[in-house]
Amino acid sequence: MKALAVFPSIREVRLIDQPEPVIAGPAEVKLRILEAGICGTDREIASFQYGTPPVNSPHLVIGHEALGEVVDVGSGVTGLAPGDLAVLMVRRPCPHDRCVPCRSGRPDFCNTGDFTERGIKGAHGYMTEFVVDDQRYIVKVPKELREVAVLLEPLTVAEKAGEQVRILAQRLPGHLRVDPSNLRAVVIGAGPIGLLGAMKLMGAKFDTSVYYRGKADSPNVKIVSAIGARFISSVEHPPAELAKMLGEISLVYEATGVVKISFDVLSVLGVNGVYIFTGVPGVKAPIEMDAERIMRNLVLKNQVLCGTVNAGRASFEEGVQDLRSFMQRFPAAVRALITARMTLDDARDAVLAKGGIKSVIKVA
Ligand code: BGC
Repeated sequence: MKALAVFPSIREVRLIDQPEPVIAGPAEVKLRILEAGICGTDREIASFQYGTPPVNSPHLVIGHEALGEVVDVGSGVTGLAPGDLAVLMVRRPCPHDRCVPCRSGRPDFCNTGDFTERGIKGAHGYMTEFVVDDQRYIVKVPKELREVAVLLEPLTVAEKAGEQVRILAQRLPGHLRVDPSNLRAVVIGAGPIGLLGAMKLMGAKFDTSVYYRGKADSPNVKIVSAIGARFISSVEHPPAELAKMLGEISLVYEATGVVKISFDVLSVLGVNGVYIFTGVPGVKAPIEMDAERIMRNLVLKNQVLCGTVNAGRASFEEGVQDLRSFMQRFPAAVRALITARMTLDDARDAVLAKGGIKSVIKVA
């Protein structure tokens, strides 16, 4: 079967032929991959800035956003049957007994660093025709979500952020009585992670603004308007103005990986505010930022700065429910996130190209 692989040591990206995986244990499930999404992480791996092949393999099969159809199940599998649609999780636990998060089913909080991530770190991914994995890492999705379910993995970034925000909100007295529509949330960036995050915030009834450098007539901004969020141009309005326009900012969901703008927005976060970072910037030269003001505000305004990576099973399951409700509220906006579909034969060009919101490889 075909697969898209990167060979970091010889700096090559190409389609390879590899044997079809087989079910080897009672808890395993075999999926035919239907669609695989391309994200910034794949592009970084394909330009050799990131990504690690499995031990003893010269190459890494990429892809970590995938929708599949179950074609076979091991004798001990429950809750999944041939014909079901399902999405695969990304991270797998480290082997160490001392790692409480991994031993508790939360490898997204692995504390040894020896986790693997399919398609990213130490394990082959999903940009291929068939995949076998343990049922623990496979999440069933309803058939009605077939055309958009490939967006579930990127949505889990917002879902895990939501979980963190809920936990952090508990530090505030009276948090259960707060009406989110009185709280201003700012999303930085209008790529897939930002737009899915904005949908999640709108669903939770926050007063939501998307701060983005693109133009008002861009497809990204059309989605912002379609879901009822406010667009604020980061080219026309510097962060200091953003705070004046909106008033107290209670929550920031960063989804760009651009360091300067992200820290500039942090410097205008409001009282008791929570700031969530999701972007993974490349390691570049140091930048200038208003560190004194940021530190002063963090203390005097009881602010929380929180980074989040990957997502646990509960976030995938919550994502299924949210995707369903997004499709009821603003189906055209959800569909508009997917701007191109290519075949596996064109996957290399698609991963090396830029542009559009979300490109998806249609495998079957
Ligand atoms: C994936 C995460 C992963 C992260 C870091 C992201 O693109 O969505 O699951 O943990 O990259 O490797």
